[in-house]
Amino acid sequence: MTDDLRLSIAAELERARARTALLTDAVDDDDLTRQHSPLMSPLVWDLAHVGNQEELWLVRDVGGRDPLRQDIDELYDAFKHARHARTALPLLNPAEARAYTAQVRDKVFDVLDRARFAPESRLLDGGFAFGMIVQHEQQHDETMLATHQLRSGAPVLSAPPPPRAPRSVSGEVLIASGRFTMGTDIEPWALDNERPAHPVDVDAFWIDAAPVTNGDYLAFMDAGGYDDPRWWSERGWAHRNQAGLDSPLHWIRDRDGWLRDRFGHIEPVQPDEPVVHVCFFEAEAYASWAGKRLPTEVEWEKAARWDPATGRSRRYPWGDDAPEARHANLGQRHLGPAPAGAYPDGASPQGVHQLIGDVWEWTSSGFHGYPGFTAFPYQEYSEVFFGGDYRVLRGGSFGTDAAACRGTFRNWDHPIRRQIFSGFRCARDA
Ligand code: AVJ
Ligand code: FE
Repeated sequence: MTDDLRLSIAAELERARARTALLTDAVDDDDLTRQHSPLMSPLVWDLAHVGNQEELWLVRDVGGRDPLRQDIDELYDAFKHARHARTALPLLNPAEARAYTAQVRDKVFDVLDRARFAPESRLLDGGFAFGMIVQHEQQHDETMLATHQLRSGAPVLSAPPPPRAPRSVSGEVLIASGRFTMGTDIEPWALDNERPAHPVDVDAFWIDAAPVTNGDYLAFMDAGGYDDPRWWSERGWAHRNQAGLDSPLHWIRDRDGWLRDRFGHIEPVQPDEPVVHVCFFEAEAYASWAGKRLPTEVEWEKAARWDPATGRSRRYPWGDDAPEARHANLGQRHLGPAPAGAYPDGASPQGVHQLIGDVWEWTSSGFHGYPGFTAFPYQEYSEVFFGGDYRVLRGGSFGTDAAACRGTFRNWDHPIRRQIFSGFRCARDA
């Protein structure tokens, strides 16, 4: 049992590192050290930060080993320097960053060999600390993919297109009223903000069977949605004006339609694909134009996890089995969302599709701790963000790895952000 866990942790660590290597080896040193956007770190910062977090938690804390590079901790502490200020720091250069992360990883395999996953140690039970670090690297791999989307120049990433939809999916699904269990106590690698499991009473609601597509969103645009303050919240309208919003990020107006820039490939916007790179305020405006609203986080999780047949909350919409390629568009296997209806095997029993993968989905909820929340293992993962100006996003995107995505997983960002792979679906009261 313990040795199976050790092997699966080793495999997950290596899978994350392969992704990090792919994203950082794809560009030259100048590109790695450059500021592609004030919203993002230079890629070389993410690379060494991944290594530094791994050193802090697995080499020093779990392993009890001496520090390798205590002198650089401050440079790679995300709370010490804003993203836009990181190129000016005396960072490790690309060769040094690669050597450092590899050196840390060597030590981690040694620590892993000796680790005892005893339930007495909350940090090691179920391999948690290793799981946290795997997820951390995968989260930064998604962040680095968003940086790739913002870089200019010739395309360097490619992947096969996502599957087509055997049948297109649209319309709404009714989720009955009643109590369900939100959050988890049993998911071994769930982060602190997903815990504890707790009952929530939910009124009946309708939820879209698929994420809002580009075609749906174009109807809002063609109806003058960006120019009509009726659909926008006061803050949303002010932001729309200040930022000059008139279309999703990375869309380019063409003579007879819209194109999009996706990792340097310019292509026509596909009407049947989920819209991506919209901010919370745009999502909110679309929903009110459509006569609907965004789902709350509670509603989203009930739609994704509650099994009406048993009343149980499951790990994923399709059940408790780990995601496979047939279930969801995850893991950067494809470099964009799949058309609505492309993953019938990943639908919920009630027919809600693509809750996991494709695009992160904005919810109307702010980011707060669940009743009984305790920060673990550090306050800076979640707790310091509670009650801030954030909205919760759910479900993961094509850029999210399965290790960092499940029915309970919570992401959050400022409501103006859209460089992330963010889309949405709508809901309404029943
Ligand atoms: C959960 C995606 C909001 O990137 O800020 C990475 C994840 N935390 N390093 C972020 C995270 C620390 C986090 N999000
Ligand atoms: Fe981080």
